[in-house]
Amino acid sequence: MTNSVNIYVFSGTGNTLIVANKISEIFNSNKYNSTVSKMESIDPKQIDLNSAIGIGFTTAFWNTFPFVRTWIDNLPDGNGTEVFLFTTMGDSSCGMIAHIAKILEKKNYKIIGAKGFIMPNNFLLVLKDKKNKERIEKTLLKVEEYVKGIINSNGYIRKTNFFSSIAFFFSSFVTTKLWNTKIAKRIMKFKLDKAKCIGCGMCAALCPMENIEIKNIPQFKDKCIFCLRCVSYCPKQALSNKILLKTYRAVNLKDMLWKN
Ligand SMILES: Cc1cc2nc3c(=O)[nH]c(=O)nc-3n(C[C@H](O)[C@H](O)[C@H](O)COP(=O)(O)O)c2cc1C
Repeated sequence: MTNSVNIYVFSGTGNTLIVANKISEIFNSNKYNSTVSKMESIDPKQIDLNSAIGIGFTTAFWNTFPFVRTWIDNLPDGNGTEVFLFTTMGDSSCGMIAHIAKILEKKNYKIIGAKGFIMPNNFLLVLKDKKNKERIEKTLLKVEEYVKGIINSNGYIRKTNFFSSIAFFFSSFVTTKLWNTKIAKRIMKFKLDKAKCIGCGMCAALCPMENIEIKNIPQFKDKCIFCLRCVSYCPKQALSNKILLKTYRAVNLKDMLWKN
């Protein structure tokens, strides 16, 4: 493995960012030179193929956000570049990471690790802070094991199976085709409480898709991926959604606003 490791991460509410930073920290403390960059600020065609690459992203509907899939699809031919993958999920990704690994293998990347990590759920089943903290602590120990495996050239690589293949086929349909339908957009639409909104523009600054424009108050365009960053980090809790009972923040606002 080369001495330098560049990690590209997409994280809606901070869970995957915590894992990415932990991975980077472990590499750095083992005399590697590791960086973490936000996927949304990096053109995948421009990434450095002379370094080993880590790619991490949120699990969404047993898959990941369409933006992440497009980012991965737009990576150049890997020419044998080593890559490890990680996803974070609330419960299960049905083996999605194994299928993303296959996609990268077809692009001539050498897979040196592929694993999903259970983190607090940021959607529907948001638990109490204490439980979430316990879950993160437990998972970070597993992350440590995972990275040690990669460093020792025996990184865990999740394999595909019959059931994960069916789930991936089905979830790919949901996250590409159904996601763009009018009904899905209506379900995912955020409601703004104008009495609470102070027009601070934080939601626009946070949105990875540049989907929000401030004209006194936020105006939403048509590119929302439902990562929940805007609704979770609004300083005035002015945004809501019918199917979202509770919001979740894994890191503080300053860490979420971090730019590459
Ligand atoms: C739209 C959406 C769909 C999700 N789908 C799943 C899922 O299929 N399986 C699962 O275990 N967790 C699911 N989750 C929960 C997240 O994957 C999990 O909380 C993750 O750690 C959040 O990472 P992030 O904070 O880096 O965005 C979903 C979350 C969102 C917002």
